[in-house]
Amino acid sequence: MNTIVQLDDPRLTAEQLLAADYSHVSRQVFSSEAVYQREQKRIFEKNWLYLAHESQLKKPGDFVSAYMGEIPVIVARGADGKIAVSINSCPHRGLRVCRADQGNTARFVCPYHTWSFRPTGELVGIPQAQPLGHKIDRAALSLKAVPRVETAFGLIFASLNPEIESLDSYLGDMKFYMEAFFDRFPGGLEVVGPAHKWQLKCNWKLPVENMLGDIGHAAFLHGSLVAQDSAPAQEIEQYGVTVVPTPGHASAIRLLPEETSMEDRGCHDPMASPELKEYLAEVERTVAERLSPEQARIKGMALGVYPNLSLLWGQSTLRVSHPRAPGLIEYWSWWLTPVEAPDHIREQLRASYTMSFGPAGMLEQEDSYAWSQQFLGSNIQYLNDQPYYYGLGMGEEKPHPEIPGVVGRCYNEHYARSFYQRWRGDMFGEEQ
Ligand code: FES
Ligand code: FE
Repeated sequence: MNTIVQLDDPRLTAEQLLAADYSHVSRQVFSSEAVYQREQKRIFEKNWLYLAHESQLKKPGDFVSAYMGEIPVIVARGADGKIAVSINSCPHRGLRVCRADQGNTARFVCPYHTWSFRPTGELVGIPQAQPLGHKIDRAALSLKAVPRVETAFGLIFASLNPEIESLDSYLGDMKFYMEAFFDRFPGGLEVVGPAHKWQLKCNWKLPVENMLGDIGHAAFLHGSLVAQDSAPAQEIEQYGVTVVPTPGHASAIRLLPEETSMEDRGCHDPMASPELKEYLAEVERTVAERLSPEQARIKGMALGVYPNLSLLWGQSTLRVSHPRAPGLIEYWSWWLTPVEAPDHIREQLRASYTMSFGPAGMLEQEDSYAWSQQFLGSNIQYLNDQPYYYGLGMGEEKPHPEIPGVVGRCYNEHYARSFYQRWRGDMFGEEQ
């Protein structure tokens, strides 16, 4: 079914796809082959993209495979300790020189004619060159280096755009919300194991949009776990807000009152054991040593960094939506855990992640169903004159006295309107 895409006019205009106030988004944004092809160039070759976590690359020679849009890359720690990213395509005939998800190596050897490369991409040798007496231009025949690589909060980002602003400035006020999560635990967080990877028949923007701030589905699509009249649903309804620090990035949080108990601040899973609840409450008791008072009061739900990185806060999972076709993604999900947590706590956190948002997780299954249905709905050409409605809470969002960014009450869809505002700039900006 993922091959059903609209064979539309490649000259689609911004006006055809988006209302001027972003209150409506055309179904073709999610189903058009022409839109998809333009996104590869203007979104994925232009922005910072999340690739891996520093805890996956502890020693020289450690590497992981990743993607920048559809382009395969290798992220590796070199002998000098620096992280480099290179494009995983042999300069001889294009094969992938690295075929593993992750590991440690001194050399990648291309399977076709055995040219060999350092983990950071430099050509080491061409076996056939020696008998021919052929002089090698090693720099020209190395793997192509990705021009920009920077890290924030242990997250490794890279960009194919040499002119892009620094990662620090790209994240801007989003750092306030990222810090509230990544610096919350004493000793920090680490990725455990390789990513879970699976395919979904949906457009890449659907999971992204969901985790930028779609609080509106939690007590309904996930009603079997988060019943409408349950304490977690009421907490969301009462304190939930969506925040847009910069268009494109967003977060859904609860900004709890100061008097909230440490148990209520720390616990995201109503089914958590008493010992896990106590561990999380203890983290909250010491959080003021690491965060500002406002950050300490944040109980996050989700956040997203433009264009395709998402974080689910309560289950500590990072995920990237890799585009493969208008209606197909490869979804990668990493589990993060507090470095200093005792083993039995880590095990309970892992079980909580796996059962909720692992590939077969109950909540993940419900979300996946919604996204694949949404893609099918986006292909009903008869409805091209009925774009999707994104206007909930229109104009009610405003700056907040305590936290950075524009803030809307829970259910306000400004997080998505802002995403499409930025997307429009990338896709149709005059400078391109
Ligand atoms: Fe890689 Fe020939 S294609 S060595
Ligand atoms: Fe969901």
